[in-house]
Amino acid sequence: MNMFADRTKWNLAPNGLSEALARLRVAGKPLLDLTVSNPTECGFAYDERAILEALRNPAALKYEPAPRGLASARQAVCEYYAERGATVGIDDIFLTTSTSEAYSYVFRLLCNPGDEILVLAPSYPLFDFLADIQDVKLRRYRLIYDHGWQIDFHALEQAITPRTRAIIIVHPNNPTGHYTKPAEAKKLNAICAARGLAIIADEVFLDFHLGPERPASLAGNRDALIFTLSGLSKICGLPQMKVAWLAVSGPQDSKTEALARLEVIADTYLSMNAPGQLAIPTLLAQSAAFQQQLMARVRRNLAELDRQLSLQKICSRLEVEGGWYAVLRVPVTRSDEDLALSLLTDCGVYVHPGHFYDFSSDGYLVVSLISSQREFSMGLKTLLVQFH
Ligand SMILES: Cc1ncc(COP(=O)(O)O)c(C=O)c1O
Repeated sequence: MNMFADRTKWNLAPNGLSEALARLRVAGKPLLDLTVSNPTECGFAYDERAILEALRNPAALKYEPAPRGLASARQAVCEYYAERGATVGIDDIFLTTSTSEAYSYVFRLLCNPGDEILVLAPSYPLFDFLADIQDVKLRRYRLIYDHGWQIDFHALEQAITPRTRAIIIVHPNNPTGHYTKPAEAKKLNAICAARGLAIIADEVFLDFHLGPERPASLAGNRDALIFTLSGLSKICGLPQMKVAWLAVSGPQDSKTEALARLEVIADTYLSMNAPGQLAIPTLLAQSAAFQQQLMARVRRNLAELDRQLSLQKICSRLEVEGGWYAVLRVPVTRSDEDLALSLLTDCGVYVHPGHFYDFSSDGYLVVSLISSQREFSMGLKTLLVQFH
């Protein structure tokens, strides 16, 4: 049909896996779901009183339009970064309703139609849609795995063309769970500064580190222009609040220009609601209690994964430094998608095939480490038995 724009000409047919999942759910069949990513359905305890109180602030009865968002909320975000070793000015922050919206602001700021942004692979599957909607072309640079993940800088530099405007990193990445190391950040900065490219750093999982030290935020970056994205979906386990932000840092000239242009984009939408913004300081104060529970779950599930893997020799897992997911290495007897489909239909275990995250080959399944411990343990056992 010619009525619609080419950019929305997606193949909207459901894939085999989601069709099978829907059939299973309609039939009321038992399901061991190892893809859970909604923290509000994982049995974590939230301070319900504090959250609901924060949302009924009488100040919300007044409308104070502010393109960057309310100062009290941005101040709380500055403090979040200060605790993570990054100095971010209150005027360098824009509140948005999701990191997806923050991505769209940055894509609109940087790209003419057809311009390119480099994105890491494997990674988060939403980038294709975010890029399509903004008329941006994505080009992939591969991560390589060798006892841990790292950026393939040769591949990254090869992927740069005259139309490249920015490079996306996810720190730590979903689902590989690896952080961008200081030496990698330095190299990335040098590449971007030399070629006039921006860095877009997605740090939604920054706080969920398995090592003893929390890796530093990249928001304090000064060598190249960087847009750091995060929000309450993951930090506080509150995706329903629709609170996120982008922080701008980098060389003064490009930063000033970026801030002025972003202000017009944000002023055009003014998308934040008052109750949510007023609640941000209280909601952010909930993060420590939530993160403690979530990391306890992640550690226990990871220990259970290692225990079950130690009982066999066929499947293994890749190194993970942080985040909510683990990647299983499994024998390649068919495509990951067919494997995930048969695990679902034959055994009632739902996992994501590596293909969803653009792994370069078959033989990878992604499991969520925030599933309930019982479901995780049973699902994994059922899954591993299939390879005996
Ligand atoms: C890497 C990454 N960025 C962003 C998001 C989404 O964040 P938001 O809810 O703020 O759009 C996710 C959600 O899973 C994610 O994995």
